[in-house]
Amino acid sequence: MSGRLKKRMGENRKMLLEEYLETKKRIVDRALEEYLPKKDGFSSEISESMRYTLFAGGKRIRPVLCMASAEAVGGSADSVLPVACAIEMIHTYSLIHDDLPSMDNDDYRRGKPSNHKVFGEGVAVLAGDALLTEAFCLMSRGTPEVSSKKTLAVLHEISTAAGFRGMIGGQVADLKAEGEKVDMEMVNYIHTHKTEMLITVSVRAGALIAGAGEDDLNALSEYGKKTGLAFQIADDILDIESSREVLGKDVGSDEGLGKATYPALIGLEESKDRTRKLVEDALSNISRFDEKAEPLRMIARFIAERKS
Ligand code: IPE
Ligand code: IPE
Ligand code: MG
Ligand code: MG
Ligand code: MG
Repeated sequence: MSGRLKKRMGENRKMLLEEYLETKKRIVDRALEEYLPKKDGFSSEISESMRYTLFAGGKRIRPVLCMASAEAVGGSADSVLPVACAIEMIHTYSLIHDDLPSMDNDDYRRGKPSNHKVFGEGVAVLAGDALLTEAFCLMSRGTPEVSSKKTLAVLHEISTAAGFRGMIGGQVADLKAEGEKVDMEMVNYIHTHKTEMLITVSVRAGALIAGAGEDDLNALSEYGKKTGLAFQIADDILDIESSREVLGKDVGSDEGLGKATYPALIGLEESKDRTRKLVEDALSNISRFDEKAEPLRMIARFIAERKS
């Protein structure tokens, strides 16, 4: 293939992905707007604080993955929308808490001052708590087209991935590893728990609700694990190579805090190689799927190449 043709294919793919992400992001934003409590009386400050970070402009990768996964197995994105939005609420709560002075102490998030910088630490903690509980409130309501049994199974998986067996476990290990000498096993533990598990469950939840069979579900879980880990390594790389303007959050904080990251352990180039390899593996994990899985393929490639 000529260099020019390859370049044109790359550009086409980028346009398609941007269009897909933009369309799905709009659907998620509209649904979140509908699900989230409006300002009222004494609780106005908390709803303002919840909405502040939720609508500050995240990429919505997790809900989009959830919808793309449902579509890959022949389901509809609409049917997974409440669960997809709940996952975004959980993710957003984790970011608000992650930025607190007692954690990463970052002042900037999603292109704006961090939640605690605007509302104070107390309200920021509570806004995170409220987003987390609201997520479970939303999921437990269920929808008429999804059986209670399936709703319960999905709830169980998501709470496991978000709790001390998953994201919280990873965040604790991340905190404890600050300034410590860590090995690959530890960094891997941190990255899989704090980030990969919520990404994998986003993919799994979409497929489960859409009624995926066991083989498809297993293949998608593998895809989730690879892209989820790649996502956090890319995040580590961007913390070194990007800027606050492009990324919308503080950079250089990992080095400043002595965080356990891939680049700190194996260097930038090796980290980039690992990311690319993980994405290749993720793509081969879903090679059995037809063109309905194309958005999942585009998202995996985006994860390795992303600049923000
Ligand atoms: C940032 O997640 C935190 C990580 C787990 C790496 P995202 O990069 O998805 O952040 P938003 O949602 O786009 O702000
Ligand atoms: C955070 O990892 C993972 C979470 C569960 C929030 P980071 O601390 O690297 O995320 P950023 O870089 O602040 O977004
Ligand atoms: Mg952190
Ligand atoms: Mg952080
Ligand atoms: Mg980071």
